Amino acid sequence: MLYLRECSKFQIPNDLFVSDSLTLKFTLGSKLKMGDTEELAAEYTRVSNTQYGTGLFLLQRLNVVPDMRVLDVGCGPGNLTAHIAEIVGENGSVVGIDPSTERILIAQKIQKQNLSFYEGQAEDLSQFAAESFDAVYVNSTLHWVQDQPAAVKEFGRLLRRGGLLGISGGSGDTLSAQEKIKAEVLSREPYRKYPEESPPKFLKQRELEKLLDDAGFPERRIVVNKITKSTKDADEMIDWLDASSSGKTYGSIPLELRPRAREEMKAEWNKLLVEDGIHMDIDLLVTVAVKA
Ligand SMILES: C[S@@+](CC[C@H](N)C(=O)[O-])C[C@H]1O[C@@H](n2cnc3c(N)ncnc32)[C@H](O)[C@@H]1O
Repeated sequence: MLYLRECSKFQIPNDLFVSDSLTLKFTLGSKLKMGDTEELAAEYTRVSNTQYGTGLFLLQRLNVVPDMRVLDVGCGPGNLTAHIAEIVGENGSVVGIDPSTERILIAQKIQKQNLSFYEGQAEDLSQFAAESFDAVYVNSTLHWVQDQPAAVKEFGRLLRRGGLLGISGGSGDTLSAQEKIKAEVLSREPYRKYPEESPPKFLKQRELEKLLDDAGFPERRIVVNKITKSTKDADEMIDWLDASSSGKTYGSIPLELRPRAREEMKAEWNKLLVEDGIHMDIDLLVTVAVKA
């Protein structure tokens, strides 16, 4: 109710962007950082129903309503972003940003007058004007953001007073089977010679609370969303993990070692195989916070 009242008067954005040249800067910079491929991006579009479902769980709590100006940070190929464009309607607007050129190219094929996609990353959203959004959300992405304090501060800068921040992502308080298998296999020879350069960071709830305090979000609610990812076998699970992580399932080991590491991971997943497939429990921390 609080959110509905606060979100009832919105303007259609016109001066949303600071400068187009900054968009170009992100385009060039992000290409150097990402290890994504067209194949992984296309596969993710096909198999991301789990993330789509967790996004809906988040967005129901965020209470997105018509006329809102919404930013989707780490939008991937834009499936969920397009859904939000329907909800905000023709007087609202939705922008998706993602550092992966491959995913943004897929997203840009979705044509709606109130929907746009750009390359960019959570840590530096300087292409957008301060207080230009009513809601900012981050689904299944924050663990890949290397400078999480900078990112959450950026979200605070972009939100108007009373605007809403939504975050859903894996909890650092409980390790999933994927994290355990990845850590165990990559600690073996010869993979251990190649420490992961930008490992995912799953926040514990107390770490998340600190980030929110530091960025000006004293009013918030965090709940745990317990989900289970099920696949028919180990190959399907690893394919989903590869597409979801833009190929980072194997940390920073060289390309030629990846097929071997995959086989070793597959052997570990097969130990969890039951009659109807593999089931991985995942705890997600789901935050809705209000900009003070
Ligand atoms: C699992 S996908 C989630 C995509 C989408 N949010 C969804 O729910 O389907 C993670 C996304 O995070 C993006 N990503 C990685 N690092 C990022 C960063 N620093 N800032 C923003 N997005 C990032 C990846 O390119 C990828 O599209």
